Amino acid sequence: MQTSTGHKPIRTAVFPVAGLGTRFLPATKAIPKEMLPIVDRPLIQYAVDEAREAGIEQMIFVTGRGKSAIEDHFDIAFELEKTMSERGKSLAVLEPTRLGPGNCAYVRQQEPLGLGHAIWCARSIVGDEPFAIFLPDEFMHAHPGGDGCMKQMVEAYNEVGGNLLSVLEVPREQVSSYGVIDPGAEVSGGQGTLTEVRGLVEKPRVDQAPSNKIISGRYILQPEVMRVLERQEKGAGGEIQLTDAMAQMIGTQPFHAVTFNGRRFDCGSKLGFVEATLALALEREDMGADVRAMAQRLLQ
Ligand code: G1P
Repeated sequence: MQTSTGHKPIRTAVFPVAGLGTRFLPATKAIPKEMLPIVDRPLIQYAVDEAREAGIEQMIFVTGRGKSAIEDHFDIAFELEKTMSERGKSLAVLEPTRLGPGNCAYVRQQEPLGLGHAIWCARSIVGDEPFAIFLPDEFMHAHPGGDGCMKQMVEAYNEVGGNLLSVLEVPREQVSSYGVIDPGAEVSGGQGTLTEVRGLVEKPRVDQAPSNKIISGRYILQPEVMRVLERQEKGAGGEIQLTDAMAQMIGTQPFHAVTFNGRRFDCGSKLGFVEATLALALEREDMGADVRAMAQRLLQ
């Protein structure tokens, strides 16, 4: 099957969720950090919602020990649902957790050898199709009425094909925490302009970074990346880096960067997590006004 422009559709998403979440200890001692809630939804749910909005149906979670709460979250909770039904309560609130039989797969990354290694662990399930990657720590939140980040990327992909990365600009002194692109020409595509990616470097020194445009946790990649990852080459921090594998594909494969028209919260950090919680609570119809009044009281 192909899209009207001849590119294979994006049907599969990979969610690397094996990380230990040490920055959120002790909260993450017994529960995965991806299960920490922003208001009343766990962080992983927002990423899955974004994938579904983009038309993606097959979800692959790269998990590790102690992450089984994620599997339970996307499963049927028989006792809960039976009890709620008997009490006449609506089950609509659980709808986002229903991925459907056969639509999710879990594969374990046995050792923390890096993001590239985590993605490579999903190779047999991904097969020979282009696929999307979501790093759930990067919470990409659409403007009210706007499209999610992956939906914007899929739209661009349907036009230009190849490989796509979401990027955003950060203050120059922060680039060494991220993958950074070497930006080329701008071309029109999707909902705005796309930037050609001429090179990529993972966690460069500030004075050596090719730009301040960082990879912000969303990717559409061709399956060839798995063959590069197969070599298991180590990069920054002694880890097998996805950025390095992609860098090796530039020249043989088209790579474009999409700047998300929406908001990004860095939920890998405590400050970003609190910011996301406040922003979403303020937006909610059922509590926004109360949260605003509460914040004003607290700030007095
Ligand atoms: C990973 C990627 C990096 C990307 C970042 C986004 O880094 O390796 O290229 O910019 O996620 O958050 P990590 O945060 O795992 O160190």
